Amino acid sequence: MEQLKGLILSGGKGTRLQPITFTSAKQLVPVANRPVLFYGIDAMASAGIKEIGIIIAPETGDEIREMVGSGEQFGVNVTFIEQDQPAGLAHAVLTAEEFLGTDPFVMYLGDNLLQGGISDLVEAFRSSSPDALILLTPVSDPENYGVAELDGDRVISLQEKPPEPKTNLALVGVYMFTAGIHDAARAIEPSARGELEITDAIQYLVDEGKRVEPHVVQGWWKDTGRLEDMLEANRLVLDTVERRLDGELIDSTCEGRVIVEAGAILERSTVRGPAVIGAGARLIDAYVGPYSAIGERCVVERAEVENSILLEGSSVTDLNARVESSLLGRDVTIARSDGQPSAYRFLVGDRSDIGVV
Ligand code: TTP
Repeated sequence: MEQLKGLILSGGKGTRLQPITFTSAKQLVPVANRPVLFYGIDAMASAGIKEIGIIIAPETGDEIREMVGSGEQFGVNVTFIEQDQPAGLAHAVLTAEEFLGTDPFVMYLGDNLLQGGISDLVEAFRSSSPDALILLTPVSDPENYGVAELDGDRVISLQEKPPEPKTNLALVGVYMFTAGIHDAARAIEPSARGELEITDAIQYLVDEGKRVEPHVVQGWWKDTGRLEDMLEANRLVLDTVERRLDGELIDSTCEGRVIVEAGAILERSTVRGPAVIGAGARLIDAYVGPYSAIGERCVVERAEVENSILLEGSSVTDLNARVESSLLGRDVTIARSDGQPSAYRFLVGDRSDIGVV
């Protein structure tokens, strides 16, 4: 029998998450201290998929290779496939053609999170054997998404960000395809933004009389391409964590669902869950509020952090106001500067975004 493979798209430009994406892949930004990409790999592994191809970009591919490794940590085999330029989701499919062969496959956008996983979807695909199956979810602002129009259990049209959407059903970043998608991706032309769009390739299948089935997702779905979405994904995942205190607490309290990893030290600090404190982190006279993910080796000292993601090695020290709704990259330092003249002092990269009180 044909084998169902997985294809995870982890290339792209990531312009909406600059400056983080100047130095790192957005798919490696942690949600509840775990790279977003890992949730997608987990979802595939749980659905019984063993062979996974991961599309990587030349700039950020090495870091992804290093973090994911052979796939053994997830119980799968990973093959990395370099896409020379971010020429669109359908271009990524063509880039992976040799890996995919004629096998059916699940395509998963590496910066997406899907609460319920993909096992249901794989089951639906196996039982009704359509040419393609797309995932949909009702949204309040369909003009910002790829939107599907249905006729019963058939998809009849797809539009990318239509000014006047015909339905409120947005395309979720998970798709199932049979080998016919390769010809479809070859047949289409680049869109106005210069990309080979997967919506156009799916529309081509529809126009050729192929059966494209919709599947409406039950749980939440999150595309983490922007800061607000990343923070929301972090909140959604933190809402599912269970309390576990493996680190050291000295005159400190952790309220509710808090994870403190082994090697983390809390001194005279309060953590109010849901929150996670990474290995080797130090909180000293600090307050960490709900929906915070403090990365490995971070320091929060005489400062307060809430609803934020701190990547490994960052520190926040001696601030007068709480840090909120923020995303700090790796090894970022934010501290009160005592020297004269009394002034703000910054060393920030291109496209950084700073709010002061
Ligand atoms: P997008 O978020 O739509 O595109 P992008 O990564 O270029 O981001 P931005 O719009 O902020 O510039 O891509 C969805 C996912 O697919 C994401 O994980 C990146 C990946 N991708 C590829 O692997 N190859 C591509 O050619 C494109 C366009 C995206």
